[in-house]
Order: sequence, then structure tokens, then C-alpha cells
Amino acid sequence: MKKLIKANDLIFETFIGSQQIAERINLLGKQIEAKYRGKKPLFIGVLNGAFIFTADLVRACEIECEIAFVRLSSYQGTQSAGKIKTIYGLEMSIEGRHIIVVEDIVDSGRTLNYFLDFLKKQKPLSVELASLLLKPDALKFPVDIDYLGFEIPDKFVIGYGLDYDGLGRNLEDIYQLKENG
Ligand code: IMP
Ligand code: MG
Repeated sequence: MKKLIKANDLIFETFIGSQQIAERINLLGKQIEAKYRGKKPLFIGVLNGAFIFTADLVRACEIECEIAFVRLSSYQGTQSAGKIKTIYGLEMSIEGRHIIVVEDIVDSGRTLNYFLDFLKKQKPLSVELASLLLKPDALKFPVDIDYLGFEIPDKFVIGYGLDYDGLGRNLEDIYQLKENG
């Protein structure tokens, strides 16, 4: 039976369980581990949404690595309409580094399209992207995802780091907006 959660004015129902998320992330972690062993990659998690995914993904990779976070989103409500304003948090040089960007979800692709372009201009050795979720039907800007958790329908989701107006980030499972709720 589906569990229901209320966040402000909206009702959400369970969609992807924590067990399934953990299994998928372990697989992605092992892929990254095999590719980056000995290369000391720098993981860059995109705040706030990717804080839990980043924490779990880096622990699934048993390799020497560094971890940083940036904040760039200007997303509000359930529509990905806002533009990216500024990038906060990336004080270190990424020149000559292997970079793995960690994002919670690629929706329109606007955020990552912008941020990956920005990173590639700083002369890193390589840039790859891990995203827990992708809404293929919502994609408007080209984004290559190297490590993808799940493809999902174009419906708003919360939980496991993702929020609706600030709520729901601490939910263990991922919940989907309930239609006609
Ligand atoms: P994009 O720039 O349209 O790809 O949107 C990216 C950002 O919007 C993500 O990093 C999320 O923080 C947020 N976002 C997009 N879709 C959802 C959703 O279904 N739930 C929660 N946040 C979302
Ligand atoms: Mg995000």
C-alpha cells in the first residue's frame, strides 16, 4: 500500500523506496570506483538537493577522493522556471582535476547545462555527471548523464534530499505528487 505525505498544500505518495535507492547507488558507486581508482577525483555536490545522494554515493566508492559542494539553484515552487544566478562555494581550483558533479535531479537541464559548461572552462582533466533522477520528458537543455539512478515521469517528487518549498528533504523514500489527491 502506498504511504501518503502532506507537504504544505500538496499530497505525495511513495514512489521509490529507500532500499531500491540504496541498491542503485551502490551499483553506481562501484562503477565510479572502478573508473577513478588512483585518480583522486573531486566530487562536487549541488546543494541543497544532492546532499543526501552525495553522502551515500561517496560512501559507496571506496577510493581516495575529495568532496565539495556548490549552491546555484534559484528554483522555486514546482516549476523549473528560474535562472541560475551565481555559483557559491567553489573556492578551490579544479584545473587538472577529475570532476564528478553530483546532482539530485535533471529536470529541464538548465542548471546542469550551465554549470557543466562553467566547469569545463576551468581546464579540469575530465568532468562527469552523476544524477539520481532524470525526467526525460522535461529535458530542454542538453545534458549528458554518466551515472543515472532512475528515469522518472515528468511529475514533481520529494524526499531523499528533494524538497517542495523547503519540505520533504529528510524523507527516506522518494515520493511523487499524487494526482487528483
Ligand atoms: P533543472 O535546471 O530544470 O534541470 O532543475 C534542476 C533543479 O530543480 C534540481 O536540481 C532540483 O533542485 C529542482 N527540481 C527539479 N525537479 C524537481 C522535483 O521534481 N522535485 C524537487 N526538485 C526538483
Ligand atoms: Mg538540485
